[in-house]
Amino acid sequence: MFNAEKFITETIADLKTKIHGKALIAFSGGVDSTVCAALVHRAIGKDLIAVHVDTGYMRKDESKFVVQIMKDMGLNTRFVDASEEYYQALADIEDPEKKRKIIGEKFIHIFERVAKEENITTLVQGTIAPDWIESGGALRDTIKSHHNVGGLPEKMHLTLVEPLRDLYKDEVRKVARTLNVPVAERQPFPGPGLAIRIIGAATKERAEIVREACDIVEREIEHAVEKNQMEMPWQYFAVLIPIKTVGVHGDKRAYGYTIAIRSVQSIDAMTAAYSDIPHDVLDRISTKITNTMGAKVNRIVYDVTNKPPGTVEWE
Ligand code: XMP
Repeated sequence: MFNAEKFITETIADLKTKIHGKALIAFSGGVDSTVCAALVHRAIGKDLIAVHVDTGYMRKDESKFVVQIMKDMGLNTRFVDASEEYYQALADIEDPEKKRKIIGEKFIHIFERVAKEENITTLVQGTIAPDWIESGGALRDTIKSHHNVGGLPEKMHLTLVEPLRDLYKDEVRKVARTLNVPVAERQPFPGPGLAIRIIGAATKERAEIVREACDIVEREIEHAVEKNQMEMPWQYFAVLIPIKTVGVHGDKRAYGYTIAIRSVQSIDAMTAAYSDIPHDVLDRISTKITNTMGAKVNRIVYDVTNKPPGTVEWE
């Protein structure tokens, strides 16, 4: 039986002997990086530099929220707004794998810069057991290149420390609860962010549309769960399909994008089943998105694909 308190005590003691000098952690605000930062912070305090990057593909108000968490945790915080840089780099890129690669490389450059400025020698990563078990299995990475700043340690010549390496998600959540870390129950959010929820070129305009649409899907589904209208999904979000169709907005012809609603149930994201969303909830989401977006979006569809044959994210 996993004992969170024992794990915390032993890990902090171990980190104190392992880390010499300053360490960097890429802080996404997800459960793994947050728990990891909390542990390392207890071991080395201000020598841990937590870096959060706004890629421009974050959820609505996400970076503000994440930076606040970092400050509340007392972390030595660095915030990098790289959104314009990312929009430029991805403006003409349509291929999903190329998009993922560019996003990963940009992360590396940003962290490299911070590591040099701060004289950092250690990189802390929130890798958990399924991450390396699945990479070893090869299947998943041939489907799409998942990345959580993968490749960083080799390219940056930093010593890698992975305190959560032997833990499974439910154990990480137990550690989060024991440490009183604020984000223990959030839905997963992919490293490349909203860029892989925009099919084709992830332009700034499209990012702003899908960000708003994701926010509406999240709020409406959470509201429906609160009212016991449906089960809490594993993940629920919007996808922008860059196909324009003809519609009517006011009395005028509109020619706008299509938004797909994606919501799935899953245990471990290796397989997934699309959620059973009640019709009136779909209806509210559809109306809210089209009302909010004006003429930019005039068609909403619901993705009824399981994994396999689909995947959770569309790219
Ligand atoms: P797929 O789309 O492969 O997603 O069915 C399975 C789970 O992984 C998340 N996902 C990622 N997470 N970096 C991540 O940290 C990534 O590059 C990435 N791509 C997908 C996805 O949201 C789902 O939970």
